[in-house]
Amino acid sequence: MIDLGNGHVLDVVLDSGSLGLSGLGWPSEWPALVRRQLRPRELAAISKTVTLRPHRGNFCWWKPSDTVRYLGDGNWVNAFGLTNPGLKRAWPWLRLFTRLVGQPIISFFAFNAEEAAEIAERLNELECAAVELNTSCPNVNKPLTTDEINKIIKAARGHSGHPLLVKLSVDQDYPAIAERIEGLVNVLHFTNTVKWDRVYPKKPSPLARYGGGAVSGPDIHRFAVEMNDRLEESGIRTPRLVGGGVHTTAGALRLLERGAGAVAVATATHYNPELPHRIITAMREKSPLP
Ligand SMILES: Cc1cc2nc3c(=O)[nH]c(=O)nc-3n(C[C@H](O)[C@H](O)[C@H](O)COP(=O)(O)O)c2cc1C
Repeated sequence: MIDLGNGHVLDVVLDSGSLGLSGLGWPSEWPALVRRQLRPRELAAISKTVTLRPHRGNFCWWKPSDTVRYLGDGNWVNAFGLTNPGLKRAWPWLRLFTRLVGQPIISFFAFNAEEAAEIAERLNELECAAVELNTSCPNVNKPLTTDEINKIIKAARGHSGHPLLVKLSVDQDYPAIAERIEGLVNVLHFTNTVKWDRVYPKKPSPLARYGGGAVSGPDIHRFAVEMNDRLEESGIRTPRLVGGGVHTTAGALRLLERGAGAVAVATATHYNPELPHRIITAMREKSPLP
């Protein structure tokens, strides 16, 4: 469990992208929400990532298959690239998110320190459990350098009144970033989706026209485990929220045994919407409250 120090404690978190910007979810999730197999009010969840200004990304609402493909066995590749309407237009949706989710966490991306400071200030007006700085969207044209990321994180920390999570990926120099931000952030969260070539080096991607896209689902779980083990061994003590291919209760419990403070679930909820709730039950059965 990760205690955020403001009355919120994280154990299982529904990851970014799952419930969209509003908490109402995607049409594919509506049956599970209506049947109450997925119950956002009982969960911590992270919103879809928002940027200060509208960001076109690659996603096309009228042709989703252009940027998202199912690969089989629970794995997906996507090249969304931060598509969102910008903070001003997203605001009513984010407010709704904070009302529909038990422990809402608002995710944002900043291209530089000034933007990070401005977004962090504005998010202080929202009642949420925490905010998350997504530094690792794999589908942006020019990924942030480690130096830029450090400046952005410092700016966000300096201007946010909320606990701060930072989302990393195996495609970054995450040990260096984690070392430099120790003491500044409340939680390290990983892994974001993983670039196609790292997961399937010998296979061509169906999204080659977008640089290959990035993968989610069971095939990236090994990277999440590797990151968790490496950070555990490094002695960095920032609590870790670990996701990426979590698709079984046993897999989630294994991460916790290996030092993760909490686990994140995204893609698996599309075919197993009760998984986050099942993991919570399994965690409580293993360590019942005194
Ligand atoms: C369609 C889609 C949209 C996503 N949108 C976001 C996003 O807006 N921000 C973010 O930080 N991660 C986003 N992610 C990444 C997930 O939050 C998660 O880190 C990733 O999918 C790995 O976890 P999983 O294997 O459990 O799906 C998205 C993933 C998918 C598949």
